[in-house]
Amino acid sequence: MNIAIVYYSYSGNTHKAAQNVAEVLGANNSVNCLRVEAAGESSNFFAQCLKGLAKKKTPIAPIETNLSGYETIIFATPVWAREMVPAMREFLDKAEGLRDKRAAAFVTYGSGFGKEHCLDSMQAFLEKKGAKFIGRFSISQFKVKDKEFIQGLVKENVRL
Ligand SMILES: Cc1cc2nc3c(=O)[nH]c(=O)nc-3n(C[C@H](O)[C@H](O)[C@H](O)COP(=O)(O)O)c2cc1C
Repeated sequence: MNIAIVYYSYSGNTHKAAQNVAEVLGANNSVNCLRVEAAGESSNFFAQCLKGLAKKKTPIAPIETNLSGYETIIFATPVWAREMVPAMREFLDKAEGLRDKRAAAFVTYGSGFGKEHCLDSMQAFLEKKGAKFIGRFSISQFKVKDKEFIQGLVKENVRL
């Protein structure tokens, strides 16, 4: 299967998690990781929280937003103030080719506050775009390097 993992990472946790998910799925599939970058992200924690909370979008660096070439797409974001990050919101807004595609989502998080809310919001966004939602999971920032743990999460939560 041809799979894309589309993710944003500010401080590296979601990047590491995405790499591990790619490695787990790469055993039986062709997996491409696409990293969404904000074109000028504030480095101020409170400004980032406010943007997350207010469901703001932010300009992103050039990236392929047409995902029609993939059979399955997995979206990943850190939780910011119980929301997805503004750059992921912008990407999802722009994303094309999702109708009838299999899509899943995962988040990485700190305290865990709002992680299900964040996943609900990603799931709703993807379903609105016509994707068939096939699963979701969350990874603590302390577990992003644990490949075995991540393998279990993928197996249990995503209907590939
Ligand atoms: C601005 C900001 C807001 C955050 N808000 C939350 C939150 O609401 N709930 C939570 O569990 N973690 C929260 N975190 C922690 C991050 O979700 C967590 O550290 C994540 O793994 C960071 O991913 P990254 O290294 O890929 O950027 C927040 C972190 C930042 C920087």
